[in-house]
Amino acid sequence: MRGPFVITVDGPAASGKGTIASRLAREYDLPMLDSGLLYRAVGVLATRAGLDLDDGEAVARLARGLKAEHLGDPEFRTRGAGEAASRVAVHTPVRLALRDVQLAFARRPGGAVLDGRDQGTVICPEAPAKLYVTASPEVRAERRWKQLKGQGEDVPYAEVLADIVRRDERDGGRADSPMRPAPDAVLLDTSELSIDGAFDAARRIVEAARARWGRSQEDAS
Ligand code: CDP
Ligand code: CDP
Repeated sequence: MRGPFVITVDGPAASGKGTIASRLAREYDLPMLDSGLLYRAVGVLATRAGLDLDDGEAVARLARGLKAEHLGDPEFRTRGAGEAASRVAVHTPVRLALRDVQLAFARRPGGAVLDGRDQGTVICPEAPAKLYVTASPEVRAERRWKQLKGQGEDVPYAEVLADIVRRDERDGGRADSPMRPAPDAVLLDTSELSIDGAFDAARRIVEAARARWGRSQEDAS
């Protein structure tokens, strides 16, 4: 377990992983990577460019040109962006185009928090602390419905639930880097938890992992 202290936070849409990841980043003073934002940006920019989202090579060419300064667009937080992201994320060339930037982040000497679907399985399988955050589809749809409404997107709940179910199937069913817990990830079901409750549970899991990691660093030195 040598190497930087990296925390991976994976899980399905609207499980609360982003909230947990950003609070953990603050708690441990670590930089955070929202890897979903990379896929959202590619999905939206490819749609704007008129590309066929099923054409993995064309979308990958665009993904190779993605720059950090492209990432601040509020449209990336919309419902359509989530859908476009999961469509482009099935293509191996697109995933490869976004891999280096994620690996560089995972290897920062000071450690990091990585949020996504495959951070603990593919991007940083050696991470000392891994969480897999879930909640029931109904709870996640309710949370996403409220979140979208707060952003000015008033979509019927049933449609948000259908989006969530479709995205779970696509993200979990794809051949390359499917959404699933790493064998050594700790599962955290937030269905019945408030944001503070979920964060407390996450912090306890990370504290235990950090103690193990600290001991392994001492043994190695
Ligand atoms: O990153 P992910 O899509 O998994 O979810 P998120 O953006 O962290 O959370 C989705 C929404 O649910 C946000 O508006 C959170 O404030 C809310 N949330 C909640 O109500 N209760 C929780 N335990 C966690 C998140
Ligand atoms: O916030 P939410 O969970 O809805 O989505 P996100 O984390 O922003 O991810 C958007 C989409 O990008 C997901 O549905 C996945 O298809 C894809 N994604 C991925 O394939 N791998 C990642 N590491 C992160 C996101």
